[in-house]
Amino acid sequence: MTDRDDPEGDVGSPPGPPVPEDALTPAAVQRHLRSAVFGHRIFYYPSIGSTNERALELAAAGEPEGGLVLAEEQTEGRGRRDRSWASSPYLGIYASLILRPAIPAPRAPLLTFMAAVATADALNEVPGLKARIKWPNDVIVAGRKIAGVLGEVRGGDPEVREMVVGIGVNVHHEEADFPLDLRGRATSVRLAAGHRGDRATLLARLLEGFEHRYTRALRDGPATLLREWQTLSALQPGDPVRVLGPTGPAQGEFAGIDEEGGLRLAAAGGLMLRVPFGEIVEALEP
Ligand code: BTN
Repeated sequence: MTDRDDPEGDVGSPPGPPVPEDALTPAAVQRHLRSAVFGHRIFYYPSIGSTNERALELAAAGEPEGGLVLAEEQTEGRGRRDRSWASSPYLGIYASLILRPAIPAPRAPLLTFMAAVATADALNEVPGLKARIKWPNDVIVAGRKIAGVLGEVRGGDPEVREMVVGIGVNVHHEEADFPLDLRGRATSVRLAAGHRGDRATLLARLLEGFEHRYTRALRDGPATLLREWQTLSALQPGDPVRVLGPTGPAQGEFAGIDEEGGLRLAAAGGLMLRVPFGEIVEALEP
C-alpha cells in the first residue's frame, strides 16, 4: 500500500530487502480472518517507527475501534518500561490495535492481559509450541520470551475512551537475528517449534481470540479472562518469586492476580502485598 492512510489500498514494493512470499499484507491476513470487526481495516507499512505511535495518531484522528496498524519492520519499536522492541524486517508480527472500551482507567491493564492471553492461545495452536504467560503480559516458551504486549493510553481521563494495544511476536528469528543482549533470553516460533510458522494465520487467530474475549469481558466482566490468564500463567499459586514493582523489589509466594491485574504476593509474616505493575525479576528456587 503506497497511500498509507488508506486502509484498503494496494501494497507497494518497499525499498530494501526483497519482499518474501509470506509478506504480512492486509490481503494475506484477511484471507484467514474470521473476526467481526477487529483487523477489517488494516494500515500496512513496509517500515515505520512504531505501530503503537501510528495507531495512537489514528485513534486521536477518530479511527474506529478495531483498526489495526501493521508493519513489516519498526525502526523505533517500543517495549515496556522504556525498552525497545527488536523489529527486524519480515521476521516478526508488529501490530497495534485501536480500542474504544469506555472502561474505568484502572481496568485498562486488563486489556493488555487479554492480548497476552489471546497471543498465548494463538501460539498454542502452532504444533510444537507450549506458550505460557509471565506476569504481567510477557508470553514465554520454555522460559524464553516469544511475544510482548504494550498497552498505551493518551491523556489522564478517569475513563479510557481510546487505547492502543501493541503486540510483538517473534516468528522467523534465528538466534543471530536477536540483538546480543537478547540471545538466550528470547525465542521465536522457528526456534521453539523447529519449523517456519505462518505469520498471517497466527495474526488472524490472535485477532479473533482477542475480539472474542473483548466482547465477552465488556459484556460479562473480567472473571473468565482472569481464569484463563491463571491457567496460562507460568507461575502457579505458592511459587516463590521476586518482583520489581513501583516501590522497589519485593519477594514472596505468588498468590494470583486481582481484578485489575495487580500481582498478589504472600510475603513473610503472613503479609499479603499487591504489586500494581512491574515485572518478575526471577522465580526463586523453592
Ligand atoms: C514488551 O516490552 O514486552 C512489549 C513489546 C511490545 C512490542 C510491540 S511491536 C508492535 C507494537 N509497536 C511498538 O512500538 N511496540 C508494540
